[in-house]
Amino acid sequence: MSIFPRGAINIRNACADDADMLSQFYATNSSFFFDNATNFRDYLVDFLGLPNKICIIACESCDNLHGYCIVGFSSIDLIERPRGGRLAYLGEILVATNNRHQRVATQMISACIRMAMTENCHRIILHCSAELQGLYSTMGFESWDSGMKLELPVCTTATT
Ligand SMILES: CC(C)(COP(=O)(O)OP(=O)(O)OC[C@H]1O[C@@H](n2cnc3c(N)ncnc32)[C@H](O)[C@@H]1OP(=O)(O)O)[C@@H](O)C(=O)NCCC(=O)NCCS
Repeated sequence: MSIFPRGAINIRNACADDADMLSQFYATNSSFFFDNATNFRDYLVDFLGLPNKICIIACESCDNLHGYCIVGFSSIDLIERPRGGRLAYLGEILVATNNRHQRVATQMISACIRMAMTENCHRIILHCSAELQGLYSTMGFESWDSGMKLELPVCTTATT
C-alpha cells in the first residue's frame, strides 16, 4: 500500500505518533542515536511535544504497512524576543543517506520558511558548517554573526 504518488516527497508536521518511524530513521541515518530504541523513542516523543517547537518530516511512498517512509526531518524553534518580535531557529535538519542530493533538504527548508512566516517570525537564524552555507545562501540566507539569517516580511497592521 502506498499513499503518495511514487517519487513524490510529502512534507508535513510531525507528531508523537511518528516517534517509532522517526526512531528507525535516526538509527539508519545518523550517529545521533543513544542507549536503546525504547529510550530514543521516548526522547523523541518528548522532543516532538516541546512547546514552541515545530517539527516537520519529509515522506516518500514505500511498500510497508504505513505506505510511506520518513526520508527527512527538520525543526524550528520559535523564540520570543524580550524587546518584542519573534525569531525562528532552524535546526536538526537530516536527510536519509539514500535520498540526498534530491532536493529533500531544500523542500524542508522552504516548508520551515513558510511555517516561520505563518508564525509571524521576522527572521530565521541557523548555524551550519562552512560547506553547507551554499545550500542556505541559494535560498536567500546570508551570513550573520556566527551563523546565517533570513529576514522575513511580517504584518504590522491587524486585519479586520
Ligand atoms: C545537509 C543535508 C541535510 C542536505 O540534504 P539534501 O537533501 O541532500 O540537500 P539538497 O538536495 O536540497 O541540496 C541542494 C544543494 O545544496 C548543496 N549541498 C547539499 N548538501 C551538501 C553538502 N553536504 N555539502 C555541500 N553542499 C551541499 C548542493 O549544492 C546541493 O545541490 P546538488 O545536489 O546539485 O549538489 C544532508 O546531506 C544531511 O542530512 N547531512 C547530514 C546532517 C547534516 O549535516 N545536517 C546539517 C545541519 S546544519
